Amino acid sequence: MTVKFSPISPKLPVFMHGADYNPDQWLHDPYVLEEDIRMMKLAGCNVMAVGIFSWSMLEPEEGVFEFAWLDQVLDRFAANGIYAWLATPTGARPAWMSEKYPEVLRAEKNRVRNLHGMRHNHCMTSAVYREKTTIMNTKLADRYSNHPAVIGWHISNEYGGECHCDYCQEAFRGWLKKKYGTLNALNLAWWTKFWSHTYTSWSQVESPAPHGENMVHGHNLDWRRFVSDQTIDFYKHEIVPLKAMNPDLPCTTNFMDWFYGLDYREFAKEVDVVSWDAYPTWHEATSEVNIASWFSFNHDMFRTLKHKPFMLMESTPSLTNWQPVSKLKKPGMHKLSSLQAVAHGSDTVQYFQWRKSRGASEKFHGAVIDHVGHEHTRVFGDVAELGRTLAGLTELVGTTVPADAAILADWDNRWAVNDSQGPRNGGLHYEQTVMQHYRALWQMGVPTDIVGSDDDFSAYKLLILPMAYLLRESTGSAIDKFVQSGGTLAVTYWSGIVDENDLCHLGGFPGPLRETVGIWAEEIDGLHDEQCNRLIMGEGAGFGGEYEIRDLCELIHIEGAETLAFYGDDFYAGRPALTVNKRGEGKAYYLAARVSDPAFYDAFYAGLVKEANVRRSLEAELPQGVTAQLRTDGEHEYVFLLNFSGRAEKVELPGEALADAESGAEVSGVLELPVYGVCILKRAASGVRA
Ligand code: GLA
Ligand code: ZN
Repeated sequence: MTVKFSPISPKLPVFMHGADYNPDQWLHDPYVLEEDIRMMKLAGCNVMAVGIFSWSMLEPEEGVFEFAWLDQVLDRFAANGIYAWLATPTGARPAWMSEKYPEVLRAEKNRVRNLHGMRHNHCMTSAVYREKTTIMNTKLADRYSNHPAVIGWHISNEYGGECHCDYCQEAFRGWLKKKYGTLNALNLAWWTKFWSHTYTSWSQVESPAPHGENMVHGHNLDWRRFVSDQTIDFYKHEIVPLKAMNPDLPCTTNFMDWFYGLDYREFAKEVDVVSWDAYPTWHEATSEVNIASWFSFNHDMFRTLKHKPFMLMESTPSLTNWQPVSKLKKPGMHKLSSLQAVAHGSDTVQYFQWRKSRGASEKFHGAVIDHVGHEHTRVFGDVAELGRTLAGLTELVGTTVPADAAILADWDNRWAVNDSQGPRNGGLHYEQTVMQHYRALWQMGVPTDIVGSDDDFSAYKLLILPMAYLLRESTGSAIDKFVQSGGTLAVTYWSGIVDENDLCHLGGFPGPLRETVGIWAEEIDGLHDEQCNRLIMGEGAGFGGEYEIRDLCELIHIEGAETLAFYGDDFYAGRPALTVNKRGEGKAYYLAARVSDPAFYDAFYAGLVKEANVRRSLEAELPQGVTAQLRTDGEHEYVFLLNFSGRAEKVELPGEALADAESGAEVSGVLELPVYGVCILKRAASGVRA
């Protein structure tokens, strides 16, 4: 069966390739604008994100609008087969607005209002900012919604941050009233009797502050949820006039890597297509494995948000200018890094920015066109080559990534676990823990989804819960059902500890999962940085050895599970550290400690993947640092072999019929991957093969 998503825009049913384009910096020089078009075509660029920070050029004075320059840019695009993601300019506001209406500026946690400046410095609640946004977006929609070059809306830019002004305080209270109904319910949920924090009037409730309330976990958690919701609400406010004018134009906003401040899983419900900005800081180390697996994780997460192809809205064609040290991309890395995004489900490769600025903060950030102004540069060559590659891969547009494995990673869990105050304030290493589990799957080339509690787990074979500290009863039930119906579950220490209000589950951890995993976690021991323990494998796990443990060790009791490994040291030496519980048709593993040795995860997941019959992209031995990823349309499969090891590598291919997707040539035997090499292999889909 063919399963293919429609292209993001019917006007451009190919891979989108392009950049943020800020011609407003160059209007004084028509030659530059002419040259841009010539070189866009030369670079195989078919799309630009235009006008992202153009408010002061579009409305130089309050109520005075200037669109002639943008008309010209877009008309020129249309005449040359180039398309635009047209931006709403709300990521930064003109100075006249801040001066006349200071309320549009943010107030910080300490309640002091910011001065004009920077970007992303506006209050999402301010009625004035919302009104100005509506006026601007209505004008843009009126004028450009049906422009032949426009294929969608790029809403604002990298939403983030929070505001503590009086309007936001009032909105927070309103949000809480809607959620809890009564103050009594809020007091119960926040456990306010502790330290005499009970509220007797809504007006007493404020956002957390460094010089005020900041240790009530339920309060902190609700503030984060509110900030996220308020930002999403602002986005929804932005798109009203756009959708009214032409509902068919897709809207997106550019997300950032596993951004802390916004629940993107909620946000994704409101966008038509997910897009994000990926800036891997390549070449920090000889091996790129850490960075590569982190960016793969993010690509997987952004794909899973809507379970469909996403957009790489920004990346750098060469270097960034915000790292401590700005490294150039070594030869090969541009293609590898770009196709990494494609391998995980991106249908676009886009950059920041098209042409280097002459001045201001990002003048040394990588761009397609350098200050020299012509196309005879290494970077331009890399970009143009990628343009040709993408043009040859059109058949992949809309294909999906078939994942049998999933990792649970909720935003509110992340917020809650990092705010838990114990058992290890010196570092719980939640994100690193998630990555330790993910990386083992990545190394085996297992297509993996990154899911949230409300996702449907039934289609997966393997579900992993790293530190699922905040776990709702309902999620526990859904997970238990998953196991009972034959799924394989892997849960770690410090899971099932609190509910959605950050109130501890009573009656024994891991709370809602206690019966599923068949253990009771009685206590948890925090280890100092220099302390460690050992996990000693016993019988029945299918692999042996001893592995180093750091950070956290839970002392668990068996309640039906079988012990697979023991602690090696301390007063709990000999007690269970890894268990498995047979439940219904499935199995639930419980890892009681933070194993620090990656070899453990490699061996553990190799066993689970085999046992649960989890699909790998390629049944081959992959050298360390080489991963395989998979996209399919149901009839054909495209296996991306990506070499991040920093060395030339060889992969012995399985005996199936494979072709090089770029050249069409048959491939068999040993495949040689150069340093930073990437190869896309095409084969018939497994169903079709069988
Ligand atoms: C972000 C922004 C861009 C630019 C780049 C630089 O992604 O959206 O405007 O500042 O970073 O890396
Ligand atoms: Zn505000």
